[in-house]
Amino acid sequence: MSALFEPLEIKGITLKNRIVMSPMCMYSCTNEDGKVTPFHITHYGSRAVGQVGLIMMEAAAVQPEGRISSYDLGIWNNEQIKGLKALNEQINSYGSSSAIQLAHAGRKAVLDSLIYSPSALAFNENSKIPEEMRINDIKTTIDSFKSAAKRAKLADFDVIEVHAAHGYLINQFLSPLTNKRTDEYGGNRENRFLFLKEIITSIKEEWKKPLFVRLSTNEYNEEGNTLDDFIYFSTQLKKLGVDLIDCSSGGVVPAAISVYPGYQVKYCEKIKRESGIPTGAVGLITSGLQAEEILQNERADLIFIGRALLRNPYWATTAAAELNYNLPAPRQYKRGWN
Ligand code: FNR
Repeated sequence: MSALFEPLEIKGITLKNRIVMSPMCMYSCTNEDGKVTPFHITHYGSRAVGQVGLIMMEAAAVQPEGRISSYDLGIWNNEQIKGLKALNEQINSYGSSSAIQLAHAGRKAVLDSLIYSPSALAFNENSKIPEEMRINDIKTTIDSFKSAAKRAKLADFDVIEVHAAHGYLINQFLSPLTNKRTDEYGGNRENRFLFLKEIITSIKEEWKKPLFVRLSTNEYNEEGNTLDDFIYFSTQLKKLGVDLIDCSSGGVVPAAISVYPGYQVKYCEKIKRESGIPTGAVGLITSGLQAEEILQNERADLIFIGRALLRNPYWATTAAAELNYNLPAPRQYKRGWN
């Protein structure tokens, strides 16, 4: 038995293996309405046929002004539930579990409307200056995450991941580089964590199934959060009942990042050890052997695969072959699979 193909049970949901399709925006909602299109059904459905354990939908906006672009997937109104539910039926029919990443872009939204952030600081010289959020905006946004969780439940998702990474709105609150507030949502790390804390608490009123949080665990800036800060955030998230930290990095402020195979795994391993919370590893993990090493050495509990799964929807079969594991076929393919 290979660790990559061992099931994992979290809060009564069994993921059939440790392979997660990493959330990846496809900007493919044709009518700017945030609804699922035939593209999404084919795109995610084919990875389910390819035996990915957990298929995570791309960042889905909890408010229209929280989209990165007007073609983003959305979960801000009840009309969007039907398409998401149909998509989940498709994914579940091939034995895969499904997740949705709840997101708000904050100052990184590229929209004609007003954009928001904890402080009125633009991402770079080419981006718009955001409006500083008032307490009322903060409360409304927290409520939008809660309503989105309720819709995720109605659409039959198995897992929710909160997108608190890559310099989007929640990350803008967490980081001292982007949060210059002087009220209770800014200042020390406990205050900067308050927005995410209130989001998690309100989501948990609606959502009893597994809950993940994606963090950017290195801000690549000396004035930014340190790994010790991320261990603190992860420890707090564990106390709030979060089940797993998905450990990514970067995107808060412009920075040169050196990438190489498994470049984020060291942060993931450290957070797992120090905070005692299960973690997901992501970032240039491209082979079954590489994934197996990370799991067997207990450096992570799940392996998120991004671009390798864009290139090859059947990545799981390639990894299984590398690990000499006899991957079960979807019912329809039994005669031609192995
Ligand atoms: C991404 N990534 C990403 N991350 C995220 O948290 N939410 C998202 O919606 C997206 N969108 C997205 C689109 C595309 C086209 C790519 C390539 C990436 C980041 C992604 O989930 C992953 O963390 C990185 O791609 C690194 O993993 P890989 O690709 O090296 O396996």
